[in-house]
Amino acid sequence: MKHFVNLKDVSSKDLRKILSDAKKRKKLRENLSTLEVDKGSPLKGKLLIQMFDKPSLRTRLSFHLAIKQLGGNTLTLRSNELHLGKGGESLEDTAKILSTYGDAFMLRTDSEYKIENFKKNLKIPLINGLSPNSHPSQALSDIFTIEEIKNKPISKLKIVWVGDSNNVLYSLIDISVKLKFELYLGCPKKFYPNKLVLNWATKNGGKIHIFDDPKKAVTDADVVISDKVISLNDKVNKKKKLKYFRFFKITEKLIKLAKNDCIFLHCLPRGAEVEEKVFLSKKSKVWQQALNRVHVQKSILLYCFDKLR
Ligand code: CP
Ligand code: NVA
Repeated sequence: MKHFVNLKDVSSKDLRKILSDAKKRKKLRENLSTLEVDKGSPLKGKLLIQMFDKPSLRTRLSFHLAIKQLGGNTLTLRSNELHLGKGGESLEDTAKILSTYGDAFMLRTDSEYKIENFKKNLKIPLINGLSPNSHPSQALSDIFTIEEIKNKPISKLKIVWVGDSNNVLYSLIDISVKLKFELYLGCPKKFYPNKLVLNWATKNGGKIHIFDDPKKAVTDADVVISDKVISLNDKVNKKKKLKYFRFFKITEKLIKLAKNDCIFLHCLPRGAEVEEKVFLSKKSKVWQQALNRVHVQKSILLYCFDKLR
């Protein structure tokens, strides 16, 4: 079994295997309805337990569909419904019980400590469904969407992130190193990525170009990606932070600097960082992006269960 916690811990070969398996499986589902099971029911009888310390729409539903389409089942918990959440049971005991009843555990949490401790104590695969520093299933699925639409390897494209240095960006940095593509960032200086993350990337051959001017980052882009300025775990002064980002909004004017056939991606939910006109334009592929989470996460699950061919 394998955990899926941070993209930097997955080999480049396995990341490519996940992406190509997802492509094959997506094609085979063209005429199947939502809950029909993939041929061979590869995860028949398996239970994925999902736990959310904080809200989710897409991650919850896409993992639900993913395990169902592979022939397994899912149970979704909110941490405040458990003894762990109320402080009446240790994480170690909770992990033992989850490993006794379930076959895989997906966790969305505000705490990297919790992720690390579950990883240490679980006897079943752990999937990170978003933590303060990582949103690996989102970033991997976004690479799938880009290559699907552009029909080119990601390394041949100019990929630009305009926005905060958050969990989605950190996973994107991880995968840029693993799949060897250059990443351009447009971000106010005060919110540049953490030095440890950048040092890790540079040391491992990553090429991250950072600009505090969004126009410089976006010029000639093939793909522009953005995300909320205020993330779920942000304990900042929201008004102040939004002010820093006021010149980093994805507007029609800004995106005109990108290539004509540039696409726009956003993991959702959205905020004021993107103009409605851009978000609903032909360039925006956000709905296809959201749907692809199902396809990619199926292959992530198979990877975790050592069933990826
Ligand atoms: N993109 C994403 O992870 O959405 P949710 O927060 O709705 O799961
Ligand atoms: N960066 C965002 C992603 C939400 C899916 C957050 O952490 O809130």
